Amino acid sequence: MKVLLVLIGFIASCVCNVIPSIPGDNSNYVEGVNRYIWMPDGEGVPQLVDLEQSVYVSNPRSGADNQYWLYTRENPINAEILINGDAESIRSSNYNSSRPLIVLVHGWYGSANSEDNILITSAVLEADDVNVIVLDWHVAASLDYVNAVASTLDVGEYLASFLEWLTDTDDEHARCCCCVGPFWNNLHLIGFGLGAHVIGVAGRQVGGRPGRVTGLDPSGPLWNENPNALDSNAGRYVEAIHTDGGSLGIFTPIADADFYPNGGRNPQPGCAISTCSHNRAPELFASSVITNHFEGRLCDDINQAENVQCSGSIFNMGNAISNKRGSGIYGLATGSNWPF
Ligand SMILES: *[C@@H]1O[C@H](CO)[C@@H](O)[C@H](O)[C@H]1NC(C)=O
Repeated sequence: MKVLLVLIGFIASCVCNVIPSIPGDNSNYVEGVNRYIWMPDGEGVPQLVDLEQSVYVSNPRSGADNQYWLYTRENPINAEILINGDAESIRSSNYNSSRPLIVLVHGWYGSANSEDNILITSAVLEADDVNVIVLDWHVAASLDYVNAVASTLDVGEYLASFLEWLTDTDDEHARCCCCVGPFWNNLHLIGFGLGAHVIGVAGRQVGGRPGRVTGLDPSGPLWNENPNALDSNAGRYVEAIHTDGGSLGIFTPIADADFYPNGGRNPQPGCAISTCSHNRAPELFASSVITNHFEGRLCDDINQAENVQCSGSIFNMGNAISNKRGSGIYGLATGSNWPF
């Protein structure tokens, strides 16, 4: 008992090691200082994460459990499973190489069936006749946060090799000599939370440059100065939408164009806690794909973005335009509920 009291006293003496007591409340969290943070699991329930948990994953096998689920307008609800190395799995599917490809990658504790995937899949299929491939990496994503972070490199490399295989197989199937350019130009990688860093790895790894890459509130904890983080080298045009910056998301600009809706931090309008603000990024993106109504305004600097004071030139956040190009820091205000 005495030992326990001494231990509790010792832990309490260092503010950075204090366990935050209200589930989902990260208001005292400081990036790089605090050891504990609340993160939403696949159901949005806050789970306490220890950022100093030791790493035990053997990196080289994390991506071997990746699954690739195809949705098209012919099968918008029930996925067809594509298998790397099995050309028949493409030939017998609704995959159509004449159409653009959108790849969606979930975050920590997510899976192919995560709410944000379902929302974005239905939005992009409504907007355009495209192939949607949802990467399911739930095996590694279900590890504790530190080990899920350690797995993202391998998961991203496996995704890259799947995409290389897909374009090769595809060309062979279509007997098309010169399809490599269009495949990469018509590819849009979209990732949420840790998934944003997975697509960063994949985008840098592949032989061609993906035309568009979108990071939805890319994860912040353990990602500042991390060489594997999403950056502007992941594609021709890389966009990040920051909704819980400095908490579950990264606040620093990391892309070609960085959008900071409502200041880019918790609380987003209609949200009380950081897990809600983090989830707002995929919701805003899905809405933008259908209506393209979020007018970002160029900011002079990040402080203007944080204070929702940007008034420069207009550049829309999100949307479904495959050859979208731009750069800079953008701010905007949104509504508090769908379609925001
Ligand atoms: C593939 O997509 C193109 C463009 O949308 C369409 O014209 C063509 O009919 C599709 N092919 C098949 C086999 O559905």
